[in-house]
Amino acid sequence: MTWREYHQCTKHSVESLRRAAHALDWANMPDPFRHYEGVPVLDLPADSPAPETPALEVLQGRVGATPAADGPAFLSQLLFYSAAISASKRVPSTGYRYALRVNPSSGNLHPTEFHFLTRGVKGWPDGLYHYRPSSHMAEQRALGGREITLGGSSGAIAFVLTSIAWREAWKYGDRAYRYCLHDIGHAWQSLALAAQAMGCETYATGGFPDDQIAQACRLNADEWPMLLIELRGSTVPLRVPDAGETIWYGGDANQLSTETIVYPRIEGIHNATKLGSIAPSAPGHTGCGAIQLPRPASSTLAFGEVVRARRSALDFVGGTQSISLPQLSAILTAATAPLAADFGGAHFIQLYLYAHRVDGLEAGVYRLWRERGELERIKSGDQRIAAAGLSLGQDLAGNACLAFSMIGDLERAVRAPGDRGYRYVHFEAGAIGQRLYLAAEALGLRATGIGAFYDDDVNRYLGIPPERGQVVYHFAIGYPVPDPRVEG
Ligand SMILES: Cc1cc2nc3c(=O)[nH]c(=O)nc-3n(C[C@H](O)[C@H](O)[C@H](O)COP(=O)(O)O)c2cc1C
Repeated sequence: MTWREYHQCTKHSVESLRRAAHALDWANMPDPFRHYEGVPVLDLPADSPAPETPALEVLQGRVGATPAADGPAFLSQLLFYSAAISASKRVPSTGYRYALRVNPSSGNLHPTEFHFLTRGVKGWPDGLYHYRPSSHMAEQRALGGREITLGGSSGAIAFVLTSIAWREAWKYGDRAYRYCLHDIGHAWQSLALAAQAMGCETYATGGFPDDQIAQACRLNADEWPMLLIELRGSTVPLRVPDAGETIWYGGDANQLSTETIVYPRIEGIHNATKLGSIAPSAPGHTGCGAIQLPRPASSTLAFGEVVRARRSALDFVGGTQSISLPQLSAILTAATAPLAADFGGAHFIQLYLYAHRVDGLEAGVYRLWRERGELERIKSGDQRIAAAGLSLGQDLAGNACLAFSMIGDLERAVRAPGDRGYRYVHFEAGAIGQRLYLAAEALGLRATGIGAFYDDDVNRYLGIPPERGQVVYHFAIGYPVPDPRVEG
């Protein structure tokens, strides 16, 4: 299996959806919470103070601060504002209630797990931990851990984000690997922005030897390491690292469902993308447009408040209510800020924007030239039916004020690092998506990630030959309709 074969055979089309009608086996739904049983579990203190720097300023690069004076308070705040449960939904017909988290996830299935290694964090034992969002606690899988190396990281705190593909495949079948990669991109920015709001910098590494990292962390076989994120900064409360030997507790990973169904195409693409190298990519296309984006709108809503309130809109209010051009400018500025990662400088994603209702911008499709902050109109006229139709008929892409197609330069991405580059394009798309979610929320709007679209039809509609880029993610932003199912 090559990236090209995988991508091709997981494209949606009217025929593919008819062919592959997939009934959900609710009795076998994977547990969205992983536990490593039988290990010491450490409390993360309750009532973490909310990071107060305005969210939009964090998205534009401002570094915040934290009052946390010790490790438990610091880690608790970091995880509470990046990965914790933040609300619940109740199904009116059955009364069934399920958790929603700070980081979004396709189908709310949450394939991403957060592991972290600490060294010399004040008041917190050095070791390897797995975050337990169900109770906001840390499972201590190893105490010490001096010899555990995570791709050369030497900072006090380093995260390993892993994917459990079966959780996602249960619903989405072969296409699920794409969503796992998007989810990692969202989780990465969720963590990186929380760290920044607390006064830290992060650096993500996508090129590492997978099996070595999986072994170093003694991951359960169903968890695949996807991204390493190192965190540094003067606000991390520090002490001298422990000198003792590592004591492994490991723990027994809980079984997520009665039966795990193997998807050979997912195994195939994961293996194909397993090479651990990163090589510089050639620069992407450059261009310009006739519309210069104005100064971005501002917002004073605090980071902590915004990330805890972030939700996906069920649908958007159609009608006439519009957003302003400065609001659009703020959204695009936030979405295209630099990403600190070994693949971050390559910019594989180009944004195409379906403007439905933006004051001062004629309805149409626009291409964003991020380096110049300019929009180039490539189609004129009402795009609401097209945007919804291309997003697998989901009304929300037409009822929003604007929708996006993210076009990934897959050919360029794989030229240097090989198929590994397939992951990077989707990480970048998820990362941009997370920034879109937060920018929208900070401006009093709401967003929804859209992983379901008719791949080739989008390319055809936008007039992009596949060798110049392929659609990898859709997004919609606007005024949400109330979702009566959300509680808390
Ligand atoms: C990669 C990705 C793809 C998604 N695709 C869709 C989609 O096609 N349609 C939709 O209505 N929501 C979609 N969502 C939104 C999720 O359903 C939503 O994040 C999840 O239910 C959790 O809700 P929350 O975002 O409010 O926490 C997607 C989210 C992500 C991260």
